[in-house]
Order: sequence, then C-alpha cells, then structure tokens
Amino acid sequence: MDTAYTDLIQRMAPDTRRFLLNNGHAVPAVGVGCWMGRVGEGEHVVQMVKNALEIGYRHIDTAAMYDDEVSVGQAIRESKLPREEIFITTKLAGKDHRRASAALDRSLQKLGVEYVDLYLMHWPQAERESGEVIPPEGSPTFVDTWKDMEKLVESGKARSIGVSNFSIKNLKVLLPHARIVPAVNQIEAHPCLPGHALLAFCKAHGIHVTAYAPVAKGKLGEVEDLVAIAQSKGVTVAQVLLSWGVQRGTSVIPKTENPQRLKENISLVELSPDDMEVLDKLHEKSGMHHSMCGFHSPALGGSAFGWTYEQLGWDMTLGGIVKSS
Ligand SMILES: NC(=O)c1ccc[n+]([C@@H]2O[C@H](COP(=O)([O-])OP(=O)(O)OC[C@H]3O[C@@H](n4cnc5c(N)ncnc54)[C@H](OP(=O)(O)O)[C@@H]3O)[C@@H](O)[C@H]2O)c1
Repeated sequence: MDTAYTDLIQRMAPDTRRFLLNNGHAVPAVGVGCWMGRVGEGEHVVQMVKNALEIGYRHIDTAAMYDDEVSVGQAIRESKLPREEIFITTKLAGKDHRRASAALDRSLQKLGVEYVDLYLMHWPQAERESGEVIPPEGSPTFVDTWKDMEKLVESGKARSIGVSNFSIKNLKVLLPHARIVPAVNQIEAHPCLPGHALLAFCKAHGIHVTAYAPVAKGKLGEVEDLVAIAQSKGVTVAQVLLSWGVQRGTSVIPKTENPQRLKENISLVELSPDDMEVLDKLHEKSGMHHSMCGFHSPALGGSAFGWTYEQLGWDMTLGGIVKSS
C-alpha cells in the first residue's frame, strides 16, 4: 500500500452520517459486519469489533446464527464506550421463530446488554427443531413470527424490529398484517445485485434498507469502470462501492478484520451523478448480474435455505439473480 494512500486514509474522518428510521431512531450509515465466514466466538471477533469502535464505528451487525454475540459483547465492554453510543443489530434464527422472546433474551444475555437497537428476522423461513425448513404455508408463518416480534418492542428489549432477506413478494404478504412496519430490511446489495426495485419498494413503504455484502466480498477490485472512478477520487474500489451504497440511501455493513481496511471502509467520498449512474447500471453489463453469496448457483437447484426462489420471491432472470420482485 503506498504511503500517500495510507496518509490519505488516516486523514479522512470516519463517516458519522445516520439514517432516520420510521420510528424516529437513527442508524449509523456505516457499520461493521460480524459474519466471520464461519460460525463461532473468538478473539479475532473481539479484536475486530474493538478496532472498529476505536476507529469510530458505532454500528455493529451480528446474529444468533453467527454464534459470536459473546465476543461482540466482550468487545463493547472492553471499549468502555457508553452503551447508548453504539447501535447493535442482532437477528432471530430460523429455529427460534416460534420463541422470539426467549431467543432475544438469550442474545441479550450473550451480548451482555439490556436491549438491542435492532432485532431482525434473519430469513423468512422458520425451521423445526430438527433443522427441517417449514414451507411458507406451514406454522409458524413469517407473519406469526412478526406478530411475536412486535411484542419485543413493547418490552423495550428491541428498540426497532425489522426483517432480512425479504423480497417485494414477501413484504406484500407481511405488510397488511404488520401493526409495526419493519424499520429495516437487510438484503444483499452491491452493484452486481443492486435490487433497485426492492429498494424503491422499501423506500415507498418507509422501510430502510441495509446492504449486506456491500463490498461484494472484495471481488470487484479489478472491474475497469470501478477502478477508473476509484483512481479519479484517489480512493479504493471498496470505498467507491460503500460510498455508492450510502449515497443511494442504504446503510452498509462491510466486514473486515484488517485494521487498515476497517479505516478505509468508514472513510467515504462523494460520487458525482455520472459515477452513480455507472454503478447503478453495472449489473446490466454481460455476466455482471449475480449474487456474491452464491445464491444464483445452479448447485442450489433453484432454492436457498429450503425455499424455492419462487417462494422467496426471487426472480432469476437476466442471467443472474434479481432478488427484488
Ligand atoms: N442478513 C443476512 O442474511 C446476511 C448475509 C450475509 C452477510 N450479512 C452481514 O453483512 C456483513 C457483510 O457481508 P459479507 O461479510 O458477507 O461481505 P462483504 O462485507 O462485502 O465482504 C467481506 C469480505 O471482503 C473483504 N473486504 C472487506 N473490506 C475490504 C476492502 N476494503 N478491500 C478489500 N477487501 C475487503 C473481507 O476480507 P478481510 O476480512 O480479509 O478484509 C471479507 O473477505 C456480514 O459480516 C454480516 O454481518 C448478513
């Protein structure tokens, strides 16, 4: 890494913008993701979250399924930051859909906090104890689960509740039954899978979108159009991707254990309308429209985590996956 670049990153102030949610709470635009590529607690999680908090991150994304809430909680305590300064998201696992309250209590205990800022239904699919996935019409449905999650706001243990991996199709099923409109829908979003229609639908219904895999797993570093924009701004492709994400109105939760990249990922730049258009349209180029999480893979046989793409509301046209209709 050249010295001029390192100096630039050190000088750039961490991004402190926030997005207002539909209930008056606000979420920091940039957070750190805690899916470490494998399930489990560990010193590497503690160190990553401590480094992030030191650099200026105030938004942490974890999940019961990542099994690293204890490490996240340890890092928060060791940071000595006041609890109210940090926005903590965790997620309800599929096997806990019929016991959301007990599952949240377990997450709170592991994190060592009294409340989370955001509790998400991780996926619309519920699972039986055996791990078998329950079909959409089986019990509990995601509507049943949502009704239980609504009670968690009244209990004060979750400031906001939301969903994750919900398509327009499934939001249309949920919304007529929702006393509380989800504050957030967390979805895979980057220029290869921008989900323009889903983002527009969510905005129209007051649902904030958080983008996961926002640096496309680091796999777009050599795409010419992106390199050209990055060079013109004197930043990296990852910074261009994250700046685009925030500028289009999504919060972003990149994961990196590398302290230099942690600093880089929260140092954003302003993109021009022309730059934004290049990123908005990148997925239209041949071979570019696809998930970075492998969901378009033929090996999955037209389904993800037990539901068909149709049940998930994922349109698989355009040579890749469009998880938006
Ligand atoms: N709701 C859901 O179903 C769901 C699904 C997936 C993820 N998530 C959440 O979203 C978070 C982020 O998603 P993700 O981890 O899948 O993808 P991501 O943040 O797009 O990519 C992470 C990968 O990119 C690398 N990376 C990060 N910053 C970089 C940079 N500046 N330059 C080059 N490479 C960089 C990281 O490697 P190094 O660590 O080596 O830097 C890591 O391998 C997760 O941690 C999790 O919290 C949610």
